[in-house]
Amino acid sequence: MVKVIFIKANGEKRELEGQPGQTAMEIARNAGVDEIYAECGGACACATCHVYVDKAWADKLPAPEPMESDMLDFAVDPRPTSRLSCQIKLTEQLDGLTLELPVSQG
Ligand code: FES
Repeated sequence: MVKVIFIKANGEKRELEGQPGQTAMEIARNAGVDEIYAECGGACACATCHVYVDKAWADKLPAPEPMESDMLDFAVDPRPTSRLSCQIKLTEQLDGLTLELPVSQG
């Protein structure tokens, strides 16, 4: 299992677990994390699964594909560590990955 920690804008933490190969978006949606709308279902076409990767983890993720980078232009309030959680595939090496949730995805 791979643990992923989601931190809400109000500081509330949720620790979730997923299987390698699942995406961070999938485990968030399955657990009812409201901030992750994921309107396109993971097709990298909506940016409503936007998260901020904790700085300690940002370099441990593979660089975004061009399609993800383009879509991040549509994210609300993007930052240098912004990623689309549907494009973050869990691996054993990402155990403990920490993602902050934006205030709004609307
Ligand atoms: S779920 Fe739509 S871009 Fe990630």
